[in-house]
Amino acid sequence: TAANAEVVRLTAAAMVDVESGELVASPALLIEDGVIVATGAEARDAEAPDREVDLGDATILPGLIDMHVHLTSRSDIHGYRQLAVSDVRATISGVAAAEKTLLAGFTTVRNVGASAYSDVALRDAIAEGEIPGPRMIVSGPPIGITGGHCSDDNLLPAQYDSTGEGVADGPWAARAMVRKNRKFGADLIKTCSTGGVLSKGTKVGAPQYSLEELSALVEEAHSHGMKVASHAHGTEGILNALKAGVDTIEHASFIDDKGIALARRNGTYLSMDIYVTEFILGEGEAAGILPESLAKERTVGQTQRRNFERAHDAGVKMVYGTDAGVYPHGQNARQLSRMARFGMTSAEALQAATVNAAEALGMGGEVGTLRKGASADIIAVSGNPLEDLTLLEEVTFVMKEGVVYKQD
Ligand code: ARG
Repeated sequence: TAANAEVVRLTAAAMVDVESGELVASPALLIEDGVIVATGAEARDAEAPDREVDLGDATILPGLIDMHVHLTSRSDIHGYRQLAVSDVRATISGVAAAEKTLLAGFTTVRNVGASAYSDVALRDAIAEGEIPGPRMIVSGPPIGITGGHCSDDNLLPAQYDSTGEGVADGPWAARAMVRKNRKFGADLIKTCSTGGVLSKGTKVGAPQYSLEELSALVEEAHSHGMKVASHAHGTEGILNALKAGVDTIEHASFIDDKGIALARRNGTYLSMDIYVTEFILGEGEAAGILPESLAKERTVGQTQRRNFERAHDAGVKMVYGTDAGVYPHGQNARQLSRMARFGMTSAEALQAATVNAAEALGMGGEVGTLRKGASADIIAVSGNPLEDLTLLEEVTFVMKEGVVYKQD
């Protein structure tokens, strides 16, 4: 990897301690081989590092984590325009998107859906230090039903005989597809337990997969130590996914009291992308989004924001997922201020994008924190982000694994 072997002492005016949600004055971090090896007084008293990096009056935070991105998707290519994009071309878009995402302060992303294992290739190119980008946790092709959202390709009529890569009907087919994705490098499994907004001919309220199929898929994934993220807008499909034991629910738009109670009981995280509706309704038509999708979004967006507030009030665990790729890469931080508008404190919004996300990835202590032993993934802003979350939309410093990628 690109980890930097020199010993660096990083200091700044303040730090957001994401665990406590409080601002700490005069933080110091000692970094070696891409890892934070000492903090506070221990870092300040350590003698003669190879280099001192003083960020002046900036505030530092752990690098942010976006739990729902599509780096190989472009925000200006929706609907039928997607048919003209080859998998190889999409991978090249992913290279550009990876850099934008990293420079926006997102040092880790979970990529939940890409064709042809382009996400695996991107992840590995970044990990080998060949191109700049965030650490990627990837799903490969989403697994789902014939004609379903995210698995199948519903744009072309029958004579084209086009089927999505991740289509798997029945419990054993679903298990086999999990095994295939694992074989070709996926870290987690993405499935869809309801229809979606941006797919042709699917209904957001309609369940996809029976509970039997979902349970088989989840059991298979968990047996390999892989987590499962399920796209689910509708009430019934959310309940199915929760009963099957998925690890995160994506979107969760029409979650009801039963779903909220079950998510709480199971410790399932919700990843609610409440910013993207602004892009879809504002700029979606010009980007090629289908009229039927715009109509679906008009009901989904409103309800999702209301239910975000309800689920948060009820104490459900939340992570930060944006669906970047549907809207422009690099704008990932815009959702933070919306999460505060719909009921979170600033600290809670930042926790969703750091400690909570890390825990949901099974990477607690490694990313999403500036504690000793964590990866040196560090960003900075000028001012106090706890008072103004939009400061995160313009980070002034980005370090990943001890390597500086941006310093204004
Ligand atoms: N990829 C998602 C879908 O097609 C986007 C949903 C976006 N809308 C929203 N309000 N979160 O279903």
